[in-house]
Amino acid sequence: MVQLGVNIDHVATVRQARRTYEPDPVWAAALAELGGADGIIVHLREDRRHICDRDLRILRQTVAVKLNLEMACEPEIIEIAREAKPDQATLVPERREEITTEGGLDVAGQYDRVALAVDRLREAGVSVSLFLDPDPRQIEQAARLAVDAVELHTGQYALASPGAEQEKELDNLIKVGALVRQAGLTLHAGHGLTYRNVKPVAAIEGMHELNIGHSIIARAIMVGLQEAVREMKRLVS
Ligand code: PXP
Repeated sequence: MVQLGVNIDHVATVRQARRTYEPDPVWAAALAELGGADGIIVHLREDRRHICDRDLRILRQTVAVKLNLEMACEPEIIEIAREAKPDQATLVPERREEITTEGGLDVAGQYDRVALAVDRLREAGVSVSLFLDPDPRQIEQAARLAVDAVELHTGQYALASPGAEQEKELDNLIKVGALVRQAGLTLHAGHGLTYRNVKPVAAIEGMHELNIGHSIIARAIMVGLQEAVREMKRLVS
């Protein structure tokens, strides 16, 4: 069965919009677990725009399913990860000005930097996944590093127009997914997956885990807003 990792960064985005205490991603993680999440994912960015060090610390103590930390290959964050010991670290590229993680990690172009991060994390007992574009050259380098998993970036698939363009991106994910598995690495995928486009990706042979954030948090607002207003209405009247 395909595992579902739920990224709760955007619960923290709403909190940080007011620099207040709510909504608390720790509470959101517990609700996601109750909903059946197989994993909780947070991205501790260098600029701390959503998830903060405090969140990671408490989540490490409270999350009962797999805790997956998305992170850049930056020495400061590597040290935090070595101490926090998430179940998995997913290495991603990170640029301050980006709205979200825009592309996969260029492990082919930055082999030594990525290799160092992988070694440091592994020494601390953290398993490592690499977030990569579905490009055979990147998978070749991931195989050289013998990481535990590769998460294929599904952004191009998600952005493609439905029909032939999306089919082409799906075919590429299927092809490159097979290369990941042939290299003996666990296959993950994520980014831009929604209630509308997830099924064909979940059906890719050997898909182990899908990591989804924005669409689930967006949906939570829509299915929860009515009840939230009802509760406030009761208080004010
Ligand atoms: N996987 C990785 C590596 C990501 O960086 C992100 C975005 O934080 C996701 C999955 C989830 O993407 P989305 O929020 O579009 O579902």
